[in-house]
Amino acid sequence: MKAIVLCAGKGTRLRPLTHTTAKHLIPVANKPVLYYSLETIKKTGIHDVGLVVNPQNGPVFKEILGDGSEFGLNIQYIVQEQPKGLAHAVWVSKDFLGDDDFLMYLGDNMITEDLTPFVEEFKKESLDASILLTPVEDPRRFGVAVLEGSRIVKVVEKPKEPPSNLAIVGVYLFRNVIFEGIKNIKPSWRGELEITDAIGWLIENGYNVKGHVIYGWWKDTGKPEDLLEANRKILEAMKGSEILGKVDEASEIQGSVHIGEGTVIVNSMIRGPVVIGNNAVIRNSYIGPYTSVGDGVTIESCEVENSIIMEESVLMDVKTRIDSSIFGKKVKLVRSERKPRTIKLVVGDFSSLELL
Ligand code: DAU
Repeated sequence: MKAIVLCAGKGTRLRPLTHTTAKHLIPVANKPVLYYSLETIKKTGIHDVGLVVNPQNGPVFKEILGDGSEFGLNIQYIVQEQPKGLAHAVWVSKDFLGDDDFLMYLGDNMITEDLTPFVEEFKKESLDASILLTPVEDPRRFGVAVLEGSRIVKVVEKPKEPPSNLAIVGVYLFRNVIFEGIKNIKPSWRGELEITDAIGWLIENGYNVKGHVIYGWWKDTGKPEDLLEANRKILEAMKGSEILGKVDEASEIQGSVHIGEGTVIVNSMIRGPVVIGNNAVIRNSYIGPYTSVGDGVTIESCEVENSIIMEESVLMDVKTRIDSSIFGKKVKLVRSERKPRTIKLVVGDFSSLELL
């Protein structure tokens, strides 16, 4: 069995972060979202992974992940020239997949569930497709499935009136027959070849499509608040503390805190769960729960909590507590005593700022 991981979308809802970083490479608890997916796939015993990328972000993925050997995987890259839909992404993976059964994983999804039972069940039973589902409060944002027993009898993409509360999670198992389904569908109202429609074709033509319902935590990290929630979830599960950097006597560490090599903490309070990368400087500051601080970040005379601060950013003398915020790489937020007392900003396209 092989796997494909889909990373070729645009990530528009995470602009401006996605102007320079594919959304799958945005760090959650100091580790790119995609790494969690690759670890989950590896646990199932699958070794050959095709990463579906677009012409712009492909080289970045290649540089970071290489041939995958560092992860114990064999990663190949499949370029989807345009994001014409999930079914189109499968179609362009045809050569890579050959006649193999495969797992399809949407690269921006994070799940804590072990997928091994899902994969084992598919191998044992004679299924044509198996789809991971989970109950959600508002299914209108997702593909939605209707079950009879464990069999899926209907699927519909982003319905205005959902026929059930079971959302398609973004993890699928297919036999090669899915290509027949893809051949037989037309672009949807949003102009995309929908995998949901190809699954619908399998159902209508009598193929055996199973729904595998999970109840654990799952997040589609499409929006900033999703990333912060994922960050909280991962930090919450972090066990113990590991302090490799230097913490001076005037500082206090509470709860589960990970501090990387070369980092210095001076006269500060760090209240976990918190992760701080390598070579960061935290001085005269408070870093509160659910905060991830990247490598080389400087935080001086600030209070930060429930936030993601990416590498080499600088936060200095900000008088209000920074909460529920995401800072990209090399962002600078400083307070100046210069008169007149104005706000001076250089803000990139699609940035989002909330001031007092
Ligand atoms: O998150 C779960 C949902 O994902 C499911 O419930 C839906 O049934 C499914 O259609 C999908 O909906 P989204 O609208 O959230 O999909 P999105 O466009 O965000 O794309 C998901 C991932 O696939 C993302 O990592 C980008 C990648 N992608 C997307 C498109 C459209 C590709 O690689 N190629 C594409 O052409």
